[in-house]
Amino acid sequence: SLFFAGTNIFHGVISLISLQVRLAIAEKALKCEEHDVNLPLSEHNEPWFMRLNSSGEVPVLIHGENIICEATQIIDYLEATFTDEGVPRLMPEEGSMYYPRVQHYRELLDSLPMDAYTHGCILHPELTVDSMIPAYATTRIRSQISNTESELKKLAEENPDLQDAYIAKQKRLKSKLLDHDNIKYLKKILDELEKVLDQVETELQRRNEETPEDGNQPWLCGDFFSLADVSLAVTLHRLKFLGLARRNWGNGKRPNLEAYYERVLKRKAFYKVLGHVNNILISAVLPTAFRVAKKRAPRVLGTTFLVGMLAGMGYFAFMCLRKRFANMMVSIRTRQNYF
Ligand SMILES: *[C@@H]1O[C@H](CO)[C@@H](O)[C@H](O)[C@H]1NC(C)=O
Repeated sequence: SLFFAGTNIFHGVISLISLQVRLAIAEKALKCEEHDVNLPLSEHNEPWFMRLNSSGEVPVLIHGENIICEATQIIDYLEATFTDEGVPRLMPEEGSMYYPRVQHYRELLDSLPMDAYTHGCILHPELTVDSMIPAYATTRIRSQISNTESELKKLAEENPDLQDAYIAKQKRLKSKLLDHDNIKYLKKILDELEKVLDQVETELQRRNEETPEDGNQPWLCGDFFSLADVSLAVTLHRLKFLGLARRNWGNGKRPNLEAYYERVLKRKAFYKVLGHVNNILISAVLPTAFRVAKKRAPRVLGTTFLVGMLAGMGYFAFMCLRKRFANMMVSIRTRQNYF
């Protein structure tokens, strides 16, 4: 069994669903140890992480003896587990009229194919208007993708106990990328995005109309910040990064959505978790910066971590993990001066 004390979240700094979970944690002001799994360095494909979640997907929550995977399940778990007085609730009471509303928008927004938008806009910048992604990232990301494929193949050979998991992952990656590189598919999902945002705009308009002059400024489902807002806030911030903001709001288009996004940016928990994430994302689409960082990183980390875990010395490994991340951030920061 695992021995992590308290609440631990394994997340990726640039992973949208990880950010969603971390925003929920920050909104609830929960004490939680955060462990960055370095996605650009493929740390989620390393054996120690594949043993936590055989799909090699962040986020993973470890709370006492419980290991919970998948963002929605983690958030539901947090909501059901941390019910002390003073811990903000992000989901209304089940019997309340707000419950189905929050649930509806949560499901609607979480069903958006965000990873397809992300890959698609990097691979096809012509779909975007005010992208924060540097133009030369496109060709580099393509070579990174093929590197990942051969890396997974190699890992499958090296780790017989995880062979099936690695092969399955490689297959999933391949079929996903086929879609994400398909302009016709991308155009279709961008049109679908507009329809979802229309619905959100109408809902926000409704909120404005029903709120009295001297009332609290409303969020998406009422005068409280809910899980629907967690989903919407993180989604809008990613769209902004991808260069899909100007197409979807601003200049008189969807004014309620525009005002909402401006307000979200100023929200304390949001700023804490996502305030700088779009800059980190820029580094993530510059694989060169990460390859340099990878050379510096201790190669033994995966083994150290696992041995440490078995020996009950997880903490030691985490110190390495944290140090490694800190080193990498320094090298990225230095590098960013170039761009
Ligand atoms: C691993 O994570 C994925 C995505 O979060 C989830 O669908 C899957 O069930 C998890 N696998 C295990 C074995 O927990």
